[in-house]
Amino acid sequence: MDGEVGIRSAGITPHTVAVRWEDGTAAQFHHVWLRDNCPCTQCRHAEVGERLSVEAGGHLDLTWPDGHRSRFSAAWLAQHAYERDHRVARRPQRTLWDTNRMRTELPEVDFADVMSGDDGLVHWLGLLRRYGFCIVRQMPTADGTVLELARRVGNLRDSNFGLLWQVESRPVPDSLAYTSVKLTAHTDLVSREAQPGLQFLHCLVNDSTGGESILVDGFAVAEELRRTEPAHWVTLTSTPVAFRYQSPDTDVSAAFPVIRLDADGGYYEVRYSNALMAPLAVDHDRVLPFYAAYRAFSELLRDPRFELSFRLGAGDCEVFDNRRVLHGRQEFDPQTGPRHLQGCYVDTDDWLSRLRVLQRTQDFRLR
Ligand code: OGA
Ligand code: ZN
Ligand code: ZN
Repeated sequence: MDGEVGIRSAGITPHTVAVRWEDGTAAQFHHVWLRDNCPCTQCRHAEVGERLSVEAGGHLDLTWPDGHRSRFSAAWLAQHAYERDHRVARRPQRTLWDTNRMRTELPEVDFADVMSGDDGLVHWLGLLRRYGFCIVRQMPTADGTVLELARRVGNLRDSNFGLLWQVESRPVPDSLAYTSVKLTAHTDLVSREAQPGLQFLHCLVNDSTGGESILVDGFAVAEELRRTEPAHWVTLTSTPVAFRYQSPDTDVSAAFPVIRLDADGGYYEVRYSNALMAPLAVDHDRVLPFYAAYRAFSELLRDPRFELSFRLGAGDCEVFDNRRVLHGRQEFDPQTGPRHLQGCYVDTDDWLSRLRVLQRTQDFRLR
């Protein structure tokens, strides 16, 4: 990265240094911010009134009133410019999708390519970053293979369901996952403060009638709600909803808006599970607006424009960003044959860390 685009000019204002790069982009950096981020190890305190020069090669060289010198590379400053436009430009490149787009752009990779080399791995993680899901084909159907795939990405996320959990119909259902009813689109572990990031669902056998998998891009649906019903969108981004999961040895609860934004208004996560929603506890004037907005969002999640339905065969694994892409399955008939999936999770910071490290390696190799 270093030295790609140098600094053309820089000037001091009372509180900032204004930088212009050779490609015409510009940003301002506060004195206090620059002193705080001085790359040398001694710096702790912020002071004002520095002298500056732009060196050959495009570095920014500052001399502070106490004689201390700070040297910033042009590339580092460009990567850390913090005005809103710069922050927004650095957001991850996401492609929001509907079912129509998925007719031609279905993201899928082969297990062998992901497992055998870093190129296959970074390609796969890049697809997950862009689309929020990817189907891994041609996996062995041996018990626990999904853990190998997940460990290729990062640490496993544990929960009360264990590191490796089963989805199959059982004689005595103790969770909806163990029945054969339709599971409408939802995110998993909504009652946890941090919903797991990547979710893996590996199909070992799928011989029963029905049971097609469902995926919905929660961010695309949220955008559609914002476009068509902006007041509903505001309600769902601002009303705290509690979710709770109880079993004989567990009682977890967390309350967040169904659509959660970051500080710049970008999408942070969707948290949605009708089955685990706790009784709404908000002021009276927010009850009716919430239910109207929740109904509108729920209807959009089920709209065929957004609900992608496909069949997993033995050896397929659907992998998705559980905080963006909702999942579910159609009803199936367990009398017609067995259906068995195995699943696990990897947290968001772990899989993004893996992607960043791999991209760093790639950048390094390109030099
Ligand atoms: C679940 C689930 C999907 C499926 O168990 O939470 O979403 O295909 N299962 O059975
Ligand atoms: Zn310093
Ligand atoms: Zn689920």
